[in-house]
Amino acid sequence: MSDITTLAGLLGLARERITAGLGDRDAAARLPVLATRDAQGWPSARTMVLRGFDARDWTLDIHSDADAAKVLQLTDGPRAAIHVWDAEASLQIRMRAHVVRLPHDEEKGLWEEVPEPARAQYGAVPPPGTPIAAADAWHPNPRPARFAVLRARVLRVELLHVGEIHRRARYEREEGWQGSWLVP
Ligand SMILES: Cc1cc2nc3c(=O)[nH]c(=O)nc-3n(C[C@H](O)[C@H](O)[C@H](O)COP(=O)(O)O)c2cc1C
Repeated sequence: MSDITTLAGLLGLARERITAGLGDRDAAARLPVLATRDAQGWPSARTMVLRGFDARDWTLDIHSDADAAKVLQLTDGPRAAIHVWDAEASLQIRMRAHVVRLPHDEEKGLWEEVPEPARAQYGAVPPPGTPIAAADAWHPNPRPARFAVLRARVLRVELLHVGEIHRRARYEREEGWQGSWLVP
């Protein structure tokens, strides 16, 4: 277990807990919340499945239907926030990230690894968010062209550990993740 009384230890705990989200279905980081901004500037947050995490480089991968609003919003501007509340670790993880799609050939390669039943999530007709006359008035048409792999390059991590005393710290990529304490 990480030593949360040090800046490096607290960041280490966040790394551990996000990594847990990859392998453990019950880990909080399996379902981070991704927030973007819509065309009117409104924040737009939604739950996503964590598909990849590079703990050394602080990048997270998520998958989406390429025609979903979030992908279009991120194409307009890559700024996003990602949020995890890990109750087991008493840790709130807030991240600021640039999120971009992987090159098409890489997406195509990863598509091959998506299990057949899961492919139905990529290619809804009409596209996600389209108003329809009845809840089932759409059908899946899975295809690689509608499979988007979004890679979030984390620029800032802000942690709040809730305990006997609360500990809050902020870490910046530009500063080599050394971190500094903040008033909770
Ligand atoms: C538990 C859960 C997991 C989800 N995982 C994903 C996911 O991995 N990728 C995805 O695109 N949408 C996922 N969704 C659906 C999104 O939350 C969202 O409703 C959908 O992607 C449309 O969002 P958008 O119109 O803002 O793009 C998930 C929803 C829930 C409740």
